[in-house]
Amino acid sequence: MRAVVVAALAVALVAVLAKDPYGEDCRIQQYPPTGATFSGNIPNYIINLDLPPRERWAQMANEKKNELKVLIEHIKKIMFVFFPSGKLVQLLESKLVWLGSTLPYPFNEEIKGIAEAADAPLGDIVVFNVFYEIFTLCTSIVAEDKTGKLYHARNLDFGLFLGWDIKNSSWIVTQKLKPLMVSLDFQKNNKTVFRSSNLAGYVGMVSGIKPGLFTLTMNERFSIDGGYIGVFEWIFGKRDGWWMSFLTRSVLENSTSYEEAKDRLTNTRLLAPAYFILAGNQSGQGSVITRSRTASLDIWNLNSSTGVWYVLETNYDRWKVPLIVDDRRTPAMKCLNQTMQQNVSTPALYNVLSTKPILNKLTVSTTLMEVSEGRIETYLRNCPDPCSPW
Ligand SMILES: *[C@@H]1O[C@H](CO)[C@@H](O)[C@H](O)[C@H]1NC(C)=O
Ligand SMILES: *[C@@H]1O[C@H](CO)[C@@H](O)[C@H](O)[C@H]1NC(C)=O
Ligand SMILES: *[C@@H]1O[C@H](CO)[C@@H](O)[C@H](O)[C@H]1NC(C)=O
Ligand SMILES: *[C@@H]1O[C@H](CO)[C@@H](O)[C@H](O)[C@H]1NC(C)=O
Ligand SMILES: *[C@@H]1O[C@H](CO)[C@@H](O)[C@H](O)[C@H]1NC(C)=O
Ligand SMILES: *[C@@H]1O[C@H](CO)[C@@H](O)[C@H](O)[C@H]1NC(C)=O
Ligand SMILES: *[C@@H]1O[C@H](CO)[C@@H](O)[C@H](O)[C@H]1NC(C)=O
Repeated sequence: MRAVVVAALAVALVAVLAKDPYGEDCRIQQYPPTGATFSGNIPNYIINLDLPPRERWAQMANEKKNELKVLIEHIKKIMFVFFPSGKLVQLLESKLVWLGSTLPYPFNEEIKGIAEAADAPLGDIVVFNVFYEIFTLCTSIVAEDKTGKLYHARNLDFGLFLGWDIKNSSWIVTQKLKPLMVSLDFQKNNKTVFRSSNLAGYVGMVSGIKPGLFTLTMNERFSIDGGYIGVFEWIFGKRDGWWMSFLTRSVLENSTSYEEAKDRLTNTRLLAPAYFILAGNQSGQGSVITRSRTASLDIWNLNSSTGVWYVLETNYDRWKVPLIVDDRRTPAMKCLNQTMQQNVSTPALYNVLSTKPILNKLTVSTTLMEVSEGRIETYLRNCPDPCSPW
């Protein structure tokens, strides 16, 4: 295990020394997905919101229990590498069941139901739900075509620093997450309320579509101010903020317009900083909302009258330069600029998200959404060597 971590650091060092060694020309004709960068489709599940929260996830959690177990075991092993005495891990475990009980309804009940159906300790499912957001790197794009039609796409990049597999030249967690990706159709009265692609076992949302109305993705925002203080405050009893992906889920489930969604994402108090990328159903309705815990710091809107036909977010504030070793923004802008507005389409965005280093070793999946047709498609990804580690 230690060797794995050392190997990960070595990979990081190589990437730091060689500036953007993995970039490539903007990809074309990658869609429909085939070939070495495509590693499969994901299964569909219906989540029935008419059921009590504890029963909603039962079928899915039961079918995915082995994959979930493998992932959680791995995460625990990693925690032991960093905290060899195991004391912290033990302390955490004992506190996690309690932490789960402090989470708001219906999330607390849903997590209990998942633990039961997956036959897993409740604390493990809680850690998975809390832990996931912390190590996510992503790229999200909203683009408007010449007719005002909106497209929204994202790469989900996850697994950084959680162990490098030398034989496979891949991040171990990234590999273990792929079998957990599922496509979810949340229904009431047998009708779709919203759809999402997500990791099995996780009750918050990081990507989703409310057909005909809006699409939404969330990206991690690293920030010294705020950071995870909110999570500690929560633990010590000050619970006035929202867990970010619970807010995203709630907006997808209960907001009924772009404006309402935007208002909630802009003004709701959060536990940690985040980026929300939101698009509506008509020209100009696209924005990247940069959030601190308490306030909206910036809203970057589409605006066809000023030629702003796309907005995009990786994991850096748009008014700051990205880390030199992790600049996915410049290549994404370059490829979007080359695409041009008249060529915007689902395949065009898939091409952009297939270009290294926007596609990298952390990329679990690519999700493509088109609001007017209510379409959401998710594809598992591979990044064959040579490929940026992130
Ligand atoms: C490494 O790759 C092989 C073949 O692709 C696969 O069977 C194996 O599960 C992978 N190992 C890990 C840890 O992902
Ligand atoms: C949903 O459909 C199933 C069968 O397709 C039916 O048994 C059930 O009563 C329906 N539920 C609602 C709330 O309409
Ligand atoms: C959505 O609203 C309903 C009705 O107010 C509420 O019961 C439900 O918990 C809400 N869902 C989420 C995820 O917040
Ligand atoms: C677009 O969304 C609004 C709510 O924001 C809704 O009233 C309207 O019907 C939608 N338009 C279409 C064409 O679906
Ligand atoms: C679009 O740009 C125009 C001109 O700068 C400005 O007046 C308008 O408020 C902008 N719209 C949005 C939604 O930002
Ligand atoms: C893309 O185009 C925009 C608008 O013309 C420009 O501001 C930006 O510098 C271009 N970026 C790249 C990487 O080409
Ligand atoms: C984009 O559209 C223009 C004009 O419609 C066409 O000439 C060009 O080849 C297209 N480019 C791509 C990358 O599809």
